Amino acid sequence: MIEEQFRQLVGSSPEVVARAPGRVNLIGEHTDYNDGFVLPAAIDRYIEFAGRRRSDRLVRVYSIDFRDQTEFSLDALQKDTAHTWSNYLRGVSKLLEADGHRLRGADIVFGGDVPREAGLSSSAAVEVAAAVFWQNLLKLELDPVYVIKLARKAENEFVGVPCGIMDQFVSALGRQNHALFLDCRDLTYRHVPLRASVKIVVCNSGVKRAVVQSEYEVRLKQCRQAVAQIATTGLAVKTLRDVAPADLGTARSALNGLLLRRARHVVTENQRTLEAVKVLGEGDLVRFGELMNASHESLRDDYEVSSKELDTLVELARQQPGVLGARMTGAGFGGCTVNLVLAEAAAAFTENVRKGYQEALGMKAEIYVCRASDGALAA
Ligand code: GLA
Repeated sequence: MIEEQFRQLVGSSPEVVARAPGRVNLIGEHTDYNDGFVLPAAIDRYIEFAGRRRSDRLVRVYSIDFRDQTEFSLDALQKDTAHTWSNYLRGVSKLLEADGHRLRGADIVFGGDVPREAGLSSSAAVEVAAAVFWQNLLKLELDPVYVIKLARKAENEFVGVPCGIMDQFVSALGRQNHALFLDCRDLTYRHVPLRASVKIVVCNSGVKRAVVQSEYEVRLKQCRQAVAQIATTGLAVKTLRDVAPADLGTARSALNGLLLRRARHVVTENQRTLEAVKVLGEGDLVRFGELMNASHESLRDDYEVSSKELDTLVELARQQPGVLGARMTGAGFGGCTVNLVLAEAAAAFTENVRKGYQEALGMKAEIYVCRASDGALAA
């Protein structure tokens, strides 16, 4: 428990605790930075913060997971290259101060069980938990969407990772037993109930996503390039969100083969996500699973962000009884797959996929049967 760890490390009790969950995306991949649609769920794995105020402007912070500690002054907030794990907290703190929220020095301990570099958004969880921690400690009145945007800005501008808004959004506003349907253009959202008869099973390929950031940036640029070229045909497009499936014929005349494939993934993924939300509402989980499968094919063939390990996990999953759909989840190039599995089949699924992965690639897959959970700011 984080309170107990705080007591051991700091020698007194924390004044406040805060926690934020990781996430898994059910469908709507690489659409958020194209103003599109996503359907993630917060999972029951968390980053927790505990802390108490100090009388000065010093922040002394311990990471349980890195077994490391560092400190910084709120008056000289800079990126730390030696304790990179502290940059999420530094970034969030710096942005709050820049917005006029006067922070106080604090002793802080944080840690959790969201696997790192596995595509389950441990960094978004740290950012959101850090913001909610300051909010609780100093009784700041912050609007949830403000917290979400600030957390993302910390990642984009301070840490330097150009992510979209999905991860921070669902880590803050996910809801127990629901997925969160988000329109990344206007940030309207709706919680969609998940049935107890199915489980969300996450398979961790064990491959840390080494090339993910550089390849992510390449995809981001390709999407912008595709938009600029589609606009030359006279179609009114600001982002790929504005391209309808029927426009792909026109788009084809302006794009080379590679950009057409990238654009086609985003356009069709948006359609799949809209349909997925509709069929989930109707209880048609079979169709939902088909859409997940089609999403994987599109990410593999058109967007080219899958990997041998992810494809192997998906193929193994689809051979198991009771599996409705299987796909890679998150940015890709490693990390995890997400599987929709009938509840009664989940135990055998876990066993068989673990064994199959070991046999096929000689690698160990960690498998988590997840529960869709409340975000840090769930009402
Ligand atoms: C990462 C980013 C998200 C999103 C996904 C791909 O998780 O942080 O913003 O772009 O990749 O869907």
